[in-house]
Amino acid sequence: MEKFDWKNLPFGYYKTNYNVRSCWKDGKWSKLEVTDSEYINLHMAATCLHYGQECFEGLKAYRGKDGKVRLFRWQENYKRMARTADYILMQCPPEELFREAIFTAIKQNAAYIPPYGTGATLYIRPLLIGSGPQVGVKPSQEYLFIVFVTPVWPYFKEGFKPVDVWICREYDRAAPLGTGNIKVGGNYAASLIPADIAHKNGFAAALYLDPREKKYIDECGPANFIAIKNNTYITPKSNSILPSITNKSLMTLAEEIGMKVEVRPVPIEELETFEEVGMVGTAAVLSPIKRIVDTNKIYTYGKNNEPGKKCTELYNKLRAIQYGDIEDKHNWVLVL
Ligand SMILES: Cc1ncc(COP(=O)(O)O)c(C=O)c1O
Repeated sequence: MEKFDWKNLPFGYYKTNYNVRSCWKDGKWSKLEVTDSEYINLHMAATCLHYGQECFEGLKAYRGKDGKVRLFRWQENYKRMARTADYILMQCPPEELFREAIFTAIKQNAAYIPPYGTGATLYIRPLLIGSGPQVGVKPSQEYLFIVFVTPVWPYFKEGFKPVDVWICREYDRAAPLGTGNIKVGGNYAASLIPADIAHKNGFAAALYLDPREKKYIDECGPANFIAIKNNTYITPKSNSILPSITNKSLMTLAEEIGMKVEVRPVPIEELETFEEVGMVGTAAVLSPIKRIVDTNKIYTYGKNNEPGKKCTELYNKLRAIQYGDIEDKHNWVLVL
């Protein structure tokens, strides 16, 4: 393996040694297979290709100062994958198979787990697809579950530096009673144009509004939206956003440091009143926002391009737990 420039990794795909797979056929999951092939042999009429029977997850393994590898709240990713699979009528692997697959994928690619202090982590991508043929909109009779890993730098290349986001009024990523709250590929297909517009105009991400009324903040590209004012951590309640495991964890940490937590609709006008705002997610970690640009208005946060105080405190606390620098009181971390 070549020498890595860990600090300059993108958030992207990098070939590692192995991935792991299991197939569901005739009512059962096959024994986990470890392979070095990056390809799958797929039927051209597979339901994932035609009817979007596809979902995925994203979680990270962190190497601590002690050299040990830690996994953050993987059971939450399992629960979300199971919920997603149910919603689009897919077979979900049992929790034990999911666990075995991610542990095996990490162990088989141990050389790709970035060292402590580089800011890089090992991103783990479980993928579940309908692999059996159907012509006519029906669920597949066969499924393929794959876990691959890739070393990454945080999603927003700025790391923990404030970024600009753009309020997207021309596109929605999900419908009011649609699939926004589960992790299916279709939501990401719908977000490609808005993300492209955002990037071409110098923004880190598109900030979506609620698809029914366009009055409330929904979420931000691949991350939940959070705001802070009056010692209160505020995050949108909406049926069309993905419940974020990072957000859920930060809410607990916010309470722990004496903040109030509110999960409720966040009207656009309220943007004016926030002291700090940010995007949170496994890939994004906590990315502070310095400007939110709307059609006829710009909301500005912070001074001297510095992250706000509360965002910094929450970010440091979460990272310290993930890397094993402080005590894991909530039992979120599993040492492998
Ligand atoms: C649309 C969307 N929102 C929010 C998140 C953040 O969720 P989590 O913190 O569980 O990674 C993600 C990432 O999975 C996402 O894709």
